[in-house]
Amino acid sequence: MTDATRQQPPSTDWHEHAHDLTRGIAAYSGSSLVAGLAKVIAKHPEADVGNAFNHKQVACKMWARDSLHDCAGRRFGEIWIVGGWYGVLAGMLLEDERFEIGRVESSDIDPGVAAVATTLNRAHGDRFSATTADMYGLDYAGRRPDLVINTSCEHIDDLRGWLAVLPSGTRVLLQSNDYFREPTHISCVASLAAFREQAGLSAVEFAGALPQRRYTRFMLIGRV
Ligand SMILES: C[S@@+](CC[C@H](N)C(=O)[O-])C[C@H]1O[C@@H](n2cnc3c(N)ncnc32)[C@H](O)[C@@H]1O
Repeated sequence: MTDATRQQPPSTDWHEHAHDLTRGIAAYSGSSLVAGLAKVIAKHPEADVGNAFNHKQVACKMWARDSLHDCAGRRFGEIWIVGGWYGVLAGMLLEDERFEIGRVESSDIDPGVAAVATTLNRAHGDRFSATTADMYGLDYAGRRPDLVINTSCEHIDDLRGWLAVLPSGTRVLLQSNDYFREPTHISCVASLAAFREQAGLSAVEFAGALPQRRYTRFMLIGRV
C-alpha cells in the first residue's frame, strides 16, 4: 500500500473544511475579521455566516465603509450599528487602518446573534460590543453616538418613524434595496429617489446605487 492509498478520505464536514480554510486565509492575509470568522465557524456551527459573509453582502459593506471614509472622514468616537446581525460591518470598520474609531456597538433584535458577533470581533476587545435590542428603543438622545448605521432598512416597517427617534442632526448611514421577492424584506424601495423620499433626511452627503445581479442596493449618508 502506498502512502497515497493509506491516506484518510477527506472529511465531508464543511465546518471542518471552512475552519481550516479561513484560518489559513487569516494567517496569509493578516485579517482579524477572517480570523474571527474561523472562530465563529468552530464555536457557532449553527450561525448562518455563509449568508452574512457572501460576496454580495461583503461588497455592500465595503461600499458603505469606503463611501463613509470618502464623505464623512476617518475619526469617529462611537458608532452604533443597528440591525447589525453577526457584526461583519463592525469588523470591517474596526480593522480598517484608515479609520480612527473609538468604539463600535452592534445591536440586533434577534437574541441569537450577539454571541456570534462577539466571537467575530473578539480581537477588538473593549472597542466592540454586541447587544440584543430593538432599534426603536435605544437611548440615542442620552448617549449621542457620532454615527448610526442601519444597513437593514428593508427589514423594518417604519423607517421614518425610527429616524424620528434619533436626535435631530444625528449623522446616519442607511442602506436598503429593491429585492421585494425576499419575504423578510418588508420595506423595500423601488429606486434611490424613493429611498430618499422614504428617509426624508435633513441633509444628504452621499446618495448612490450599487447594482447586484438580482437587486440594487441603495445608500444614503447624511443627517436626520
Ligand atoms: C438579515 S439581517 C441584515 C441584512 C442587511 N442587508 C445587512 O447585512 O445589513 C437584518 C437584521 O435586522 C434585524 N432587525 C430587524 N428588525 C429589527 C429591529 N426592530 N431592531 C433591531 N434589529 C432588527 C434582524 O434581526 C436581522 O438580524
